[in-house]
Amino acid sequence: MAFRVFMLSILLLFSLVAISSASESDGADSSTEFVLTLDQSNFSEIVSKHDFIVVEFYAPWCGHCKKLAPEYEKAASVLSSHDPPIALAKVDANDELNRELASNYEVKGFPTLKILRDGGKTVEDYKGPRDAEGIVAYLKKQSGPASVEIRSAEDATNFIGDNRVVIVGIFPEFSGEEFINFTALAEKLRSDYEFGHTLDAKLLPRGELSVTKPTIRLFKPFDELFVDFQDFHVDALGKFVEESSMPTVTVYNKDPSNHPYVIKFFNSPNAKAMLFMNFSDENDPYKTKYHEVAKEYKGKGISFLLGDIDASQGAFQFFGLKEDQVPLIVIQSNDGQKYLKPNLELDHIASWIKEFKDGNVLPFVKSEPIPATNNEPVKIVVADTLQEMVFNSEKNVLLEFYAPWCGHCKNLAPILDEVAVSFENDTDVVIAKLDATANDIPQDTFEVKGIGIKYRRNLHLRRNFDFAGEGKLCHQKKSSDSPTQDFCNFPAAYSPKAVS
Ligand SMILES: *[C@@H]1O[C@H](CO)[C@@H](O)[C@H](O)[C@H]1NC(C)=O
Ligand SMILES: *[C@@H]1O[C@H](CO)[C@@H](O)[C@H](O)[C@H]1NC(C)=O
Ligand SMILES: *[C@@H]1O[C@H](CO)[C@@H](O)[C@H](O)[C@H]1NC(C)=O
Ligand SMILES: *[C@@H]1O[C@H](CO)[C@@H](O)[C@H](O)[C@H]1NC(C)=O
Repeated sequence: MAFRVFMLSILLLFSLVAISSASESDGADSSTEFVLTLDQSNFSEIVSKHDFIVVEFYAPWCGHCKKLAPEYEKAASVLSSHDPPIALAKVDANDELNRELASNYEVKGFPTLKILRDGGKTVEDYKGPRDAEGIVAYLKKQSGPASVEIRSAEDATNFIGDNRVVIVGIFPEFSGEEFINFTALAEKLRSDYEFGHTLDAKLLPRGELSVTKPTIRLFKPFDELFVDFQDFHVDALGKFVEESSMPTVTVYNKDPSNHPYVIKFFNSPNAKAMLFMNFSDENDPYKTKYHEVAKEYKGKGISFLLGDIDASQGAFQFFGLKEDQVPLIVIQSNDGQKYLKPNLELDHIASWIKEFKDGNVLPFVKSEPIPATNNEPVKIVVADTLQEMVFNSEKNVLLEFYAPWCGHCKNLAPILDEVAVSFENDTDVVIAKLDATANDIPQDTFEVKGIGIKYRRNLHLRRNFDFAGEGKLCHQKKSSDSPTQDFCNFPAAYSPKAVS
C-alpha cells in the first residue's frame, strides 16, 4: 500500500495525471434524468437486471464529479437509445448508508467509475474519457465484443494502425480451446488493449503469412514491431501480453504518446532503472548502449527508462538529483531504496547495472547540504546529520518533519521557536526540524506519513514517539488551521514515567 502511494506520487511528479478535463457547463436540467440513482437499498436488484451497467461512485463535494455530471448525463441520454441500451448509474458514496457498498467496490477516490457486466458478476475499472462524446464511444466499444473479427486487409490496416499495441489471434477456425482461451483473455484485458481475430494471416501487415497453428501476434509501434506467441494457457497469454507490450526502454520526454508506457513502467513490479540525460546533446552512443543492456536484462526483474532532463524536473526534485550530474542512472528498488550513478560514462552503464544486480551498490540518500551555521533556537537536521544529531546525540530530540509549502507548518514555526527558546538552557533537549521534501528518511526509523512531529527519547530509553500531546493549549492560536500539540506539557508528558 505504502508503495502504491509512493509510486502514485512519482507519477504526480512526472505530472502525467489529470488528463481528464470535461468542459464546464451547468445547464443540467433536473427534470430529465437518464442517469439512474442507486443506493444500498436497490443497488443489487437494479444491477442484477443489467448485462452491462456503468456505476459512478461520487461525492457531492468533489469538483471532478461536478464537472463530470453534465457529461455523464448527456452520455446516458445518448446511450439509452443504443441497441441494446447501456445504463449509466450513480451512487453517492459519501452517504453513510452507501459507504459499505463503496468499500466493496474498492472506491478510494472520486469519481470512481466501474463497468459491471453480467448482472454485476464481473467488475472492471472504467478507463475511458470524461466527456460525453468520449464516454459514448468508449462504452459502445466496451459493450460490444471484446475482440473484433478482421476479414479484409483494409480491416487490418484500420484496426492495427501504426501507433498502438494491438493483439491479433490467428486461428484455423473460430473454435477450440485456444480460441476460447484467447477470448477469455480479450474479455479480461479489454479495457487495456485492443483485440482482433482472423482466419487469414495474409491479411495482416507484418509477420509470417502462412500460419497453420493457432497463434497470437502482438503488434507494437516500437522495438521489433510484432511478436508471435503460441502458448494458449490463459496465464501465459496474460504474461506475454504484459511483457511484450512494454518497450525494452521506455522513453520519457514531452511527447504525450509515450506517457501510457511511462505509467506502465511505474506500475511494473520490477526494479526501475532510469537514465536521465539531455536529449538535445549528441548522445546516441548512450542510448544504443543502454538499449543493449536493457535487452540483456529482459525478464530479469529490472525495467528501463530513458528520460530527457528537460521533461523531468519533477523526477529530479523527487529523487534529489542535480542537473550537473547528468548523464546519470537512478534505480528505484521495490523496497523503496534508491541507487545513484552520477556523471555516467558510456562504459559504466553495463558494469554498474551488474554491480547493482549483484547487490554491490550502496543506496543513495537524498539530503540537503549540511548547514554551515546552525545556531538558531530550532536546529536544522538534514538526512546526512540525522544519525549524528538525532539517533546518536544522547539527547531527547523533538523533531518536526515539515514541508515548505505546508500551512500548518508555517503556523507552527513561531510556536516551535518559542518552545526552543524556553529549552535553550536544557542540555538534554534539542528542538529541531527537517524538510521532509528535501531529505530522505530511512524507512526503519521514523514512520513519516504526513507532516508532523516526532519525539526521539535517547536518555533512559532509545525510542521514537509520535508527538501528539493533549490537554490545554499554551498558545491561543485557535484557528482551525493551528496545531493543537500541547507544548506546555513538553517534555513532561514524555518523561520516563509517562511513557514506558
Ligand atoms: C433507489 O432507491 C432510492 C431511494 O432509496 C431512490 O431515490 C432511487 O430512485 C432508486 N433507484 C432506482 C433506479 O429505482
Ligand atoms: C486454456 O487455458 C487453461 C487455463 O489456463 C489451460 O488449462 C488449458 O490448457 C488452455 N488450453 C490450451 C489449448 O492451451
Ligand atoms: C540541454 O542542452 C541544450 C543544448 O545543449 C541546452 O540549451 C539546454 O539548456 C540543456 N538543458 C539542460 C536542462 O541542461
Ligand atoms: C538561559 O541562560 C541564560 C544565561 O544564564 C539566561 O540569560 C537565559 O534567560 C536562560 N534562558 C532561559 C529560557 O531560562
